[in-house]
Amino acid sequence: MSNPAAPLPVAVLISGRGSNMLAIARACAAGHLRARVVSVIADRSDAAGIEAAASLGLPTRLLEARALSRAEFEAQLARTLESSGAQLVALAGFMRILSAAFVAAWAGRMLNIHPSLLPAYRGLDTHRRVLAAAEREHGASVHYVTEELDGGPLICQGRLSIAHAETKSSLAARVHRLEHRIYPMVIGLIATGRLILAAGTVLLDGRPLAAPLQVSEDGAAEHTDA
Ligand code: GRF
Repeated sequence: MSNPAAPLPVAVLISGRGSNMLAIARACAAGHLRARVVSVIADRSDAAGIEAAASLGLPTRLLEARALSRAEFEAQLARTLESSGAQLVALAGFMRILSAAFVAAWAGRMLNIHPSLLPAYRGLDTHRRVLAAAEREHGASVHYVTEELDGGPLICQGRLSIAHAETKSSLAARVHRLEHRIYPMVIGLIATGRLILAAGTVLLDGRPLAAPLQVSEDGAAEHTDA
């Protein structure tokens, strides 16, 4: 994005615990990413992540969605993002569906993380559904946001093998650990200008990704060139 030498200003939108937001913020603070979190925005007052963000000294904003119409909420969100100077928006456990017009305004500049190996298991309650289906693999996906829910171009997947004695909570914890690695990694690639979305295609170092980048639990990251 714009100036690859300056830290990329990132806004993170949350509705809950905010552990992905914290992973991104900590990676920025540690200098692992050429990015900085300029705003953490929550759509509900009981989002625990908002206090965690404030305690890290990050600028926070609560836009209580229940008290607003969708149009009012999005107008305030647009103003908040604009005044923060954010050039990238990271949805991180943000449980609100944004309108097609809002998403279009941030096309190629808005990411989401979803707890499944998309396109499998879009929507909610993925860990329970994956276990019920006796899947052998699970994980998390980072993708660009389009108006199709959990359906935008895939960038990266963290992948794990499901253990015999796996429970919903053990699986959730393992997926979260993967998420905390892949989300900062993707933002880092965008911040250095290596990763972009061009005409609906994800380009890494100027070449289309043949498949999403893959990260495994044991630490390995790999990708296949087109
Ligand atoms: C994550 O599992 C993410 O994939 C999903 O919501 C969860 C948010 O967790 N979209 P946290 O609030 O970042 O801890």
